[in-house]
Amino acid sequence: MRINQISKTAVTIALVVGSVVVLDSCRKQPLSPGYEYMPDMYRPVGYEYYNVNPNFTDSITARKPVEGTVSQGNYPYEGNPVNYVPYSLKAEDYELAATVVNPIAATAQVVEKGKDIYTKFCVHCHGDQGKGDGSITQTGNFPPPPAYNAALKELPEGKMFHTLTYGKGMMGSHASQLSKVERWTVIRYVQTLQKL
Ligand code: HEC
Repeated sequence: MRINQISKTAVTIALVVGSVVVLDSCRKQPLSPGYEYMPDMYRPVGYEYYNVNPNFTDSITARKPVEGTVSQGNYPYEGNPVNYVPYSLKAEDYELAATVVNPIAATAQVVEKGKDIYTKFCVHCHGDQGKGDGSITQTGNFPPPPAYNAALKELPEGKMFHTLTYGKGMMGSHASQLSKVERWTVIRYVQTLQKL
């Protein structure tokens, strides 16, 4: 019958085309991607940073961020280079720490941020004014920390950083909660409490 013949021919054509496609995909080069239909869509063109780049009118490849770009993180806190400088003193070097200097200047903004950190991380033990009367001491189960403006009045900032980093006595290390910049920043606020 006619229809039978047509379908036979169709099957034959399909078989021939199919085997050509299948055989064609067996290539000698195992890493060859085969035919690429739009290579310019997925093959990036590399430009050297400081070489002429025809895509920009000033021909410079290394672009600056566009104006108004907001830096990631809360610079100068998260992204501050101070965070990447290793603190080389070991826990037992407490006395040596006296000579370490705060790399963060005591600007009004820094003291303000330091107060914010203090209110979240320190106030419940050290108290509002740093007198060692935080709420936790009211229970009677926690020995009051020394007052900043009395026993700790002359405490150098380096020792404070050391204690914040490694902990001391009943005060645990704050290194996992506060970055180095945040530790130096809260110290700027503690220094205002030393002067009370
Ligand atoms: C769990 C309660 C607690 C918390 C929270 C706490 N402290 Fe302390 N802190 C203490 C105690 C207790 C001492 C006394 C430690 C000692 O000398 O044995 C102390 C000591 C200190 C000292 C003196 C360290 C030295 O070298 O003598 C500083 C400075 C200080 N704390 C700052 C902070 C700051 C800043 C925070 C918040 C980031 C904080 N502390 C959080 C309990 C606490």
